[in-house]
Amino acid sequence: MRNVRWVRSLLDEEQDRRSYMRLFGHEVMLADAVRMEAYETAIHAEVRPTDVVVDLGTGTGILAYLAGRAARHVYAIDASDFIFAAERVLRLNAARNVTVIQTDSRRFEPPEPVDVIVHEQMGGELLNEGLLETIVDLRDRALRPGGRILPRHMRLYAEPVSLRPDSRVPFLTDQRLMGLDFGVLRDDPRLTCLRDERYWWREVQTGEVDQVLSDPQPLVAFDLTSIQLRDLPVTVDATRTIVKPGALDALAVWFEAGFDSGPVLTTHPLAPRTHWKNALFRLAGGGVAGGDVLRYRVRVGALGIEDVHIVSV
Ligand SMILES: C[S@@+](CC[C@H](N)C(=O)[O-])C[C@H]1O[C@@H](n2cnc3c(N)ncnc32)[C@H](O)[C@@H]1O
Repeated sequence: MRNVRWVRSLLDEEQDRRSYMRLFGHEVMLADAVRMEAYETAIHAEVRPTDVVVDLGTGTGILAYLAGRAARHVYAIDASDFIFAAERVLRLNAARNVTVIQTDSRRFEPPEPVDVIVHEQMGGELLNEGLLETIVDLRDRALRPGGRILPRHMRLYAEPVSLRPDSRVPFLTDQRLMGLDFGVLRDDPRLTCLRDERYWWREVQTGEVDQVLSDPQPLVAFDLTSIQLRDLPVTVDATRTIVKPGALDALAVWFEAGFDSGPVLTTHPLAPRTHWKNALFRLAGGGVAGGDVLRYRVRVGALGIEDVHIVSV
């Protein structure tokens, strides 16, 4: 039995907001062809000519533009000062049925009932950009009964993975490099102090995970048209049986965001690359065999993972 314990705190909301002022962030999102094609396909399939749409968090205005090609009217809202770009690009591209408004969605009172909310509020850890609070708030105040949310179906995962050898970063005290043994630091309290909450996590790009060792199951799965904030569990106790033997390097976090008409945006670490990265909760689990059982507790809101146990067969 091995035991690892850690937690990680949420990026604060203000930091997220400032990060979206960064031009490069918007360029990266627009360059994500997987993301853009999923939205274009779903908006084309699901938005109707009589619809009034709110694009919650319009950024560059791209989703408002796509919705405007299909809908009667679109309200493109964003809290960021970057909204000047959306306003100008939509106006000069003759998107005449789009109204651009700088506002936080929680203060937005649409002038007419809303048939569709379009959004891209998914953080790499799904909930870490305030997705649930902002969508539920706008939905409950503004969406018509039977109204639609694009994307609607959300699933969050944290599963055991092996990394490609060139992506591994061993813990310092496990290093014996070129004859130098860092294990001598193992009991040093000054090192222990450096292992704060953030120490235990890192991010990887698609392609750095070699294999997922379990049969993935969502920690939480919810429908944005019906979920209430109180429905989200505070913690989930996960049990996973290892189905592929390998080195247990980490638990990898990913999400799926599904549209009613079919497209599913996934950040599965072996799926086609998107701009989202995968958060990794680092483990030094060593080798695991088929049939070994892994237990861990996931804090769902401010994502954290605690009490990891491996029971070897
Ligand atoms: C991930 S970006 C998506 C931008 C754009 N929709 C796209 O798909 O390229 C999220 C955007 O939502 C905005 N945002 C986040 N929370 C918001 C809120 N509560 N009200 C209004 N805008 C918000 C951010 O400023 C940012 O521009």
